[in-house]
Amino acid sequence: AGEEIVVIPGDGVGNEVVPAARSVLEAVGEFEFVEAEAGDAVKERTGEALPPETYDRVAAADATLFGAAGETAADVILPLREAVDSFVNVRPARAYPGVDALRPETDVVFLRENTEGVYAGHESRLSGDLSTLTRVVTTSASERLAEFACEFVADRGADGFHLAHKANVMRETDGRFRDAVVGVADERGVETEEVLMDAFATRVCLDPAAFDVVVCPNLAGDVLSDLAAGLVGGLGLLPSANVGPERGLFEPVHGTAPDIAGEGVANPAAAILSAAMLLEHLGYDGEGADVRAAVEAVLSDGPRTPDLGGDAGTDEVAEAVRSRL
Ligand code: NAI
Ligand code: MG
Repeated sequence: AGEEIVVIPGDGVGNEVVPAARSVLEAVGEFEFVEAEAGDAVKERTGEALPPETYDRVAAADATLFGAAGETAADVILPLREAVDSFVNVRPARAYPGVDALRPETDVVFLRENTEGVYAGHESRLSGDLSTLTRVVTTSASERLAEFACEFVADRGADGFHLAHKANVMRETDGRFRDAVVGVADERGVETEEVLMDAFATRVCLDPAAFDVVVCPNLAGDVLSDLAAGLVGGLGLLPSANVGPERGLFEPVHGTAPDIAGEGVANPAAAILSAAMLLEHLGYDGEGADVRAAVEAVLSDGPRTPDLGGDAGTDEVAEAVRSRL
């Protein structure tokens, strides 16, 4: 007990859902919380979206709970993922009983490569007419992701995973990604099924039950997991974990939700489910499962926030989750 958890609410609804998730963590364990700043607001005040002390705290803490940053999101989240050496972003997209979902049978976990692809950021303006982007794919990062995926499916009791790519067009980069991932899985005796990422977008809408664990390059994982959020009832429900070899950074998939920020009606489920993933990362599997079960019970029986058709506020939902623990 007594692990240090850095808490970064950030901007917008981050300031509503992160305190809600922290209150749930406080209800299940004895942790040492360290509040830190990042995002548009701190940039406005100090000129820096990610103050060095925030980076250093995240790099040293057992785990971090992050909300969202606004326009400075890329300046905040990319370095923070690097601070925990996160090579995989775990994004479960699950429909919950009681929540109106387009596809109630959806239960898919995206394992998104978290360090390279087009988000490695090598963009150039070559002329007034031409800009370019270099896509980065290494065998080592692809293999590290594949090793994680093999362990993940074993823990989940699954036989294998799908692998989304577009190696028929991006033969060199996605070809390397595909060969590395399939190579590791074959060695470990884990089944893989390849699916072209554009075809995957259609297939997951028509038949989400056909998919369980899906390994994706960085951009594809970002886009396809948001698409899956639409299948299960919206962004207010999707947690994520940026996992590194030792540390982790846990955050809802959603952003600052400027259209509802400040009203106290943001759905805290994604942030609280991210806190459940944080608990499991720290080895508190029982507590993590309890929190998830409490969220599921509240999603099923209410109270619910307006995005799910209810009229409850963020704090009322968080209080209902705590009272179920
Ligand atoms: P967004 O996720 O903030 O909002 C998209 C839609 O989902 C909005 O209608 C919003 O009201 C709704 N929504 C999101 N979270 C919700 C919640 N907890 N409860 C209820 N409804 C919720 O995405 P958007 O609008 O594209 O981006 C807004 C800002 O957030 C931008 O400045 C963007 O850069 C930033 N952003 C930051 C991220 C991060 O820090 N990791 C991730 C995505 C966006
Ligand atoms: Mg995204």
